[in-house]
Amino acid sequence: MTDTTESRPLVIAIDGPAASGKGTLARLLAGYYALPHLDTGLTYRAVALALLMEDLSLDDEALAEQVAVNLDLEALDRNRLNAYGVGEAASRVAVMPSVRRALVAKQREFAQTPPGAVLDGRDIGTVVCPDADVKLYVTASPEARALRRHQDAPEVSYDDVLADIARRDARDMGRTDSPLKPAEDAHLLDTTEMDIETAFQAARSVIDDRLAART
Ligand code: DC
Repeated sequence: MTDTTESRPLVIAIDGPAASGKGTLARLLAGYYALPHLDTGLTYRAVALALLMEDLSLDDEALAEQVAVNLDLEALDRNRLNAYGVGEAASRVAVMPSVRRALVAKQREFAQTPPGAVLDGRDIGTVVCPDADVKLYVTASPEARALRRHQDAPEVSYDDVLADIARRDARDMGRTDSPLKPAEDAHLLDTTEMDIETAFQAARSVIDDRLAART
């Protein structure tokens, strides 16, 4: 266990594609290092869900920006936002530069508030927190990710989940603004063959090494 009480905020950035395990890993690491955690995917999901609930267009950037500007990070309801289908809608509003600008400002403020934070998403190490103390890029094969998602939501067929993952990967990696990619100084963690405990121990060892070098 490392002391995270020094005054400069400690920021751990975790990026990766959908269902790579980065969210579970981020939660475990936040608990272990006693840091607040922000799943930034929830912020894009919240914008998309607010539009869906009001039957509003997912293609109206000015409207989506307004929702993003007014978003309250304290009011993110993980259970509602993680519903299957909201992720696809989220990846559509996530291509909009003005939505990203508004959400990134809130995410940065969260990260920079002492004692710091663990943030997970697509662009944390590259855009939101380029100076993060530690950057992890968590990935796994599309088939392994689809299997995990399918086990969490057995009502959706494996083939449909795999197709959804391929579509979201293409959109997240192919967009012009802040595409998903590893930061140059990110540590790559391929969890295809790992269970969560193994992934956690691997991440912990990277983080402890970086923290030892930080002081
Ligand atoms: O991680 P997730 O499935 O909850 O993310 C939902 C969508 O939000 C994802 O397809 C892309 C977008 N997203 C993003 O563009 N940047 C982030 N930092 C986090 C999520």
